[in-house]
Amino acid sequence: MTDQDKAIEKQISQQAVNSFNDAPNARYKQIMQSLVRHLHAFVSEVELTEQEWFEGIGFLTDTGHKCDGLVRQEFILLSDTLGVSMLVDAINHRHSATATETTVFGPFYIDGMPDREFGENMAFTPGETALVRGRVVDINGDALAGAVLDVWQTAENGMYSGQDTEQPFGNLRGRYRTDADGCFAIRTIVPVAYPIPTDGPVGRMLDAANRHAWRPAHLHFMIDVPGYRKLVTHLFNHDDPYLQSDAVFGVKQSLQVIYEDLNIHDDVSVRLGMEVPFKRACYEFVMESA
Ligand code: BEZ
Ligand code: FE
Repeated sequence: MTDQDKAIEKQISQQAVNSFNDAPNARYKQIMQSLVRHLHAFVSEVELTEQEWFEGIGFLTDTGHKCDGLVRQEFILLSDTLGVSMLVDAINHRHSATATETTVFGPFYIDGMPDREFGENMAFTPGETALVRGRVVDINGDALAGAVLDVWQTAENGMYSGQDTEQPFGNLRGRYRTDADGCFAIRTIVPVAYPIPTDGPVGRMLDAANRHAWRPAHLHFMIDVPGYRKLVTHLFNHDDPYLQSDAVFGVKQSLQVIYEDLNIHDDVSVRLGMEVPFKRACYEFVMESA
């Protein structure tokens, strides 16, 4: 590449950046100019061929076509598998060290799932019986009564209800509330590891990179308490083989729980009339004020 070539390429990039100089919205201008600068730097660095440019356009086109506006959002899946979702999450939750850590929301949340009683069973498909219980507290450790815990997990076949139309409505989903002492109890099944959808362009990308599509077993939570920051997180099974290689980079050490074997009742399982043995996981969620 001659100095003249370099000057021409630099001029193209500068012109594209400058074309946003007069954007009236300062934040929009900042974002677009930075985006164009980084995009041009990337194209220059790898010296993108015309063929590769065309393949990139095809990949993005396929990604859009794979979205159905309901359960399938291939662009979010792309963001997740490129680590962008977790980076955005980290930037936006530079919270106090004491609050519960956040993780990726994922594409399988469904709003308006059934309200469930303390300890109600939300599993209508087979699995290993589990009791997930604990408390929701503020950063001083004081109980938060009436916290709403929206929870969701896959069935043993690795699919979420809604995604898998064979599952009964509301299977492995529900909205629980904490009692006066900030306690919650969820009767469910032990979560299993599952692969993210691979029948689209994101699957092709993972294949080309020799990456697997698995997420370690987890239970999703979205916890809402008036006056506190909404908490979007998971609890991961501590012994899952995919903890070190989550396809969407969502694992955090502080979010791992042990599903211990319980052969005798605890105070909650006896009250709920559960049969022993079962698995039990306990966790205390710490909310930070808004
Ligand atoms: C999930 O955990 O539901 C999920 C997160 C990111 C991508 C796909 C699925
Ligand atoms: Fe999930």
